[in-house]
Amino acid sequence: MVVYCEICQTSVPSDAAMLQHLKGKKHIKNAKTVDLRDRQIRCSVFVRGFPSYAREFDIQNYFSEYGKILSFYFDSNRKHFAIIEYEHVESAQQVIKGRHHSLNGYTMVAKERENKPAHNKPMASTSQNRSKPNTKPNKKKKLLAKSAKEEETVEKEDSAIIHMFKNAESINEQMAILKDSMALTKEDFKQRNSICKMLLELLQPYFPESTLHQFGSSVNGFGVKGCDLDLFLDFNDDKHELKQKQHRPVQLPYVRDITTLKKSCGPLYSNDLQQMSLYDKVKLVSRILCEKGPGCNDIFCIPSTRCPVVRFVHEPSGLKCDLSVNNRLALRNTQLLAVYSSLDERVKLLVFTIRYWAKLRKIAGNENAGPRLTNYALTLLVVYYLQNTSPPVLPSVKTLAELSDSTTMIDGWDCSFVKDISLIPKTQNTTSEAELLEKFFQFYSQTEFSAAVLQCQYGKPKLLTAFAEEMSQSSQLVNFKFGPISVQDPFVLEHNITLNVNEKTKHKIVDQFRISSLMSCNWSSDNHSKLVREEQWGLMMLLAEELPREFTESHQSEHEDIIRCDDMYSFPIVFKMSMLSEIAFKQ
Ligand code: CTP
Ligand code: MG
Repeated sequence: MVVYCEICQTSVPSDAAMLQHLKGKKHIKNAKTVDLRDRQIRCSVFVRGFPSYAREFDIQNYFSEYGKILSFYFDSNRKHFAIIEYEHVESAQQVIKGRHHSLNGYTMVAKERENKPAHNKPMASTSQNRSKPNTKPNKKKKLLAKSAKEEETVEKEDSAIIHMFKNAESINEQMAILKDSMALTKEDFKQRNSICKMLLELLQPYFPESTLHQFGSSVNGFGVKGCDLDLFLDFNDDKHELKQKQHRPVQLPYVRDITTLKKSCGPLYSNDLQQMSLYDKVKLVSRILCEKGPGCNDIFCIPSTRCPVVRFVHEPSGLKCDLSVNNRLALRNTQLLAVYSSLDERVKLLVFTIRYWAKLRKIAGNENAGPRLTNYALTLLVVYYLQNTSPPVLPSVKTLAELSDSTTMIDGWDCSFVKDISLIPKTQNTTSEAELLEKFFQFYSQTEFSAAVLQCQYGKPKLLTAFAEEMSQSSQLVNFKFGPISVQDPFVLEHNITLNVNEKTKHKIVDQFRISSLMSCNWSSDNHSKLVREEQWGLMMLLAEELPREFTESHQSEHEDIIRCDDMYSFPIVFKMSMLSEIAFKQ
């Protein structure tokens, strides 16, 4: 009779053999590991429910009230969860008993740390999946690395969203889960609106003709929890028909360098404001926020000729705010994205998934964007792709303009498009969102970025030679600058919105498209099951930080035409280009 040892996860042929096994060194070592692990789990709590402004220091401080903390892990990038290990079981029990914990205006939920079967495995087997580091660490370092790796695994497995993916029935459902768990809620919108209201009440006594607008992801349909609040304070100083009403005088704050403004007493009307530079206006607003803005902290001005910004944190909500004073074009492209996002539910599903994926792969995001894609550019890449499916899921900007019965010009640019979505014909494309995602990666892994300018206006690429010729004939395009990736703004045609992307980052971006194209290749068909791990499928695999071995180890011995992607994952990966081309480019 075969007997199974739970601890070592191994079978022996008889009871006698089991007795022998139990006395063995290997079993005793594994049993100790499992014991230790069990104790660690009983002393630990898993906490969720952090807003984007949650600070590691505050959380640790709060939970240290319950007892001595041995280890504290906070997922500081995504702020999905924290794991706290106490010295004594009682501390953990007390935290779990309280369950809901309030801190700085948000509520955290504490529960037991799950004892996943994977962690019951002896440590040796968990490390088998990883490739070996180049240098041999000493024993102590090795142990530390092991537990760090273990925590890494915990991070991945416990990550709230990934966990929810497990229960999904399909990749479509996983995409919906991702979107639902990330999207701004009614409460978030309410909170953002009330911040706007507060700011307008503060600023209007100084600028009675002004209006305040939200733009960007807060209102374009693609906003995720905690995304920054983009604001445009329109002084309406070019609209002369506005009448000056009686307003109580206000003391204007002193701002160094504002030479044009002689008055120390407001309010300011068109005549005064027209004489000021954009940057002076921004500085004036920042002074008002500094002196009077309730809860406005970390205020500073970002100079720029075209679009200076005052950046601050609204402390009560933790939201980062960017307030600009010259941004009607951004307001307009936000409205365009809002139309696209509400035309078809699949648009949001794709944008949310791709934004999440791109952030994870470190190729896009607005935090220290540098040469990465901005979220705005990434969103337009998704739009452009959806204009290029067969049949198109989304119409070109030109088509939307043709459907409009009026022309809208802003700063000399034609920004016309129809806003009433009932006037836009429905797409004939019925492809599922999962397949659209798979094809998105294929589409961009095959795009020859250096050969053309991608134009959302027409929903088509324009070859560089043809574009250059057009530039020589059109004064509107004369300032357009080519980059390793060139995506034309839908309205400001001289603007390449991916100009910040350098050659190195372009390669990184293309590599990621290719890797994900390979990983998602035919994932809805039967072939897929051969490539995936049992418990990792669909988005879990695509959004995992670690590539499945099938994509790496079996090809490590072959040396020709390989690319190394060390910086993309937590361990070195050798990836064979011919494997990519065989599978991904065959489509
Ligand atoms: N914008 C623009 N041109 C750019 C970058 C941004 O016109 N090259 C405008 C767009 O209207 C964009 C808005 O500025 O929606 C805000 O930019 P940003 O905050 O970078 O992007 P969001 O779409 O708001 O993304 P996030 O959720 O990361 O804030
Ligand atoms: Mg934004």
